[in-house]
Amino acid sequence: MSGEALRIGVCGVGTVGLATIDILLLQSAMVSARAGKDLKVTHVGARRDHADHDYGDARVSRDVMDVARDPEVDVLVELIGGTGVAHDLIKLAIEQGKHIVTANKALIAEHGNELFALAEAAGVQLGFEASVAGGIPIIKALRESMAANEVKQVAGIINGTGNFILTEMSSKGRAFGDVLCEAQALGYAEADPTFDIDGTDAAHKLSILASLAFGIPLNIDGPVKQGIDTVTPTDLDYAAELGYRVKHLGIARQSKNGVELRVHPTLIPEHKQLATVDGVMNAVMISGSAVGEVVLAGPGAGGPATASSVCADIIEVARHSNGTGPAMGLPAAELNAKPLIPSGEIASEWYVRLSIVDRPGVMSHITKLLADRGISIESLVQKAPESGRSEVPIVLLTHMAAESVIIDAVEAIKAFGEVGTEFALLRVETFE
Ligand code: HSE
Repeated sequence: MSGEALRIGVCGVGTVGLATIDILLLQSAMVSARAGKDLKVTHVGARRDHADHDYGDARVSRDVMDVARDPEVDVLVELIGGTGVAHDLIKLAIEQGKHIVTANKALIAEHGNELFALAEAAGVQLGFEASVAGGIPIIKALRESMAANEVKQVAGIINGTGNFILTEMSSKGRAFGDVLCEAQALGYAEADPTFDIDGTDAAHKLSILASLAFGIPLNIDGPVKQGIDTVTPTDLDYAAELGYRVKHLGIARQSKNGVELRVHPTLIPEHKQLATVDGVMNAVMISGSAVGEVVLAGPGAGGPATASSVCADIIEVARHSNGTGPAMGLPAAELNAKPLIPSGEIASEWYVRLSIVDRPGVMSHITKLLADRGISIESLVQKAPESGRSEVPIVLLTHMAAESVIIDAVEAIKAFGEVGTEFALLRVETFE
């Protein structure tokens, strides 16, 4: 192999760290040939031991900062996660002139503006392909392959754990907790799966995608956020009966009024491509001004899939050690904030489930309250009452309405007093 080896320090030996080391050791000839130089893991930073795991000739340190200070390391691969130690580690490594590769979406979403500026100033690369949608090459697609497009919308399923849980619940009727345990065992979920469930992980990823797509600074607090914990088996069943699937989507859309950023469970017509993406698979749909619609799909979580993206960034560092241009496509100083559209103003179609007293006039009153607010009903289904209940469930699908308007209508319906406590409100996206 020509030239000197690229010396790699891997910090964090969880699911992704171990899978990364495995690829670099077991596929050494292939990845080195593609990198144009030998890729050598010289140092592993790990707080805990994996006695049965082969790190090749690498030195092992308990203190990950030793890896950042090691003159025998050219690229530091951060796979610890979180925004504490990982943040200090990357700053120290940049100071030491090392290239960085990370899978850490929380860190990029929260501190990316600072870290990209530091990396640019130090003349080092900061690769973060693995931070969004696991094994899907979405960062390079947006930054490089679609650089000639004005991007209007990026929308997709960007949390593998959430999609796995919703798929198993709806297709097999499995219980939420049971599927979550399996997602943890399979290495899909975060160490603390709260972020997978409450939408935070998807919101971090959406902030990164929106920054790349629209040339705006990262804004961790930008996305409106609702998690899969708000979806009940009842709603999965009713959605299926109506010809829809419930998916947790991240949507970043640009219009003349600004940018809307939101992550939430969403009903999608079952014939749409995103509705058919199941299990741990993720899919991201990008609307570009020249190319039109591009959809990328693949495994969104898991050790080997995520390590595929980590290793691609390492190879990229080896191929272009003089830099490949700014991490976000534009220099950090040239990213320009755009107004964020408040949640209440974001319009969509809606799925509304209520339980009502089965009495003459109740339904017409509800439809009047909607009509008074300009909300048009697309379909309305009254279900049979559950045994022992006097109220009957009704499911409404509406045409477009702003969130503030539908919420006002629902409040008015509830105030009317003929409705029970059972209630669900979910957005519908047809992508027409
Ligand atoms: N916990 C994340 C997910 C891992 O399930 O999508 C990949 O970012």
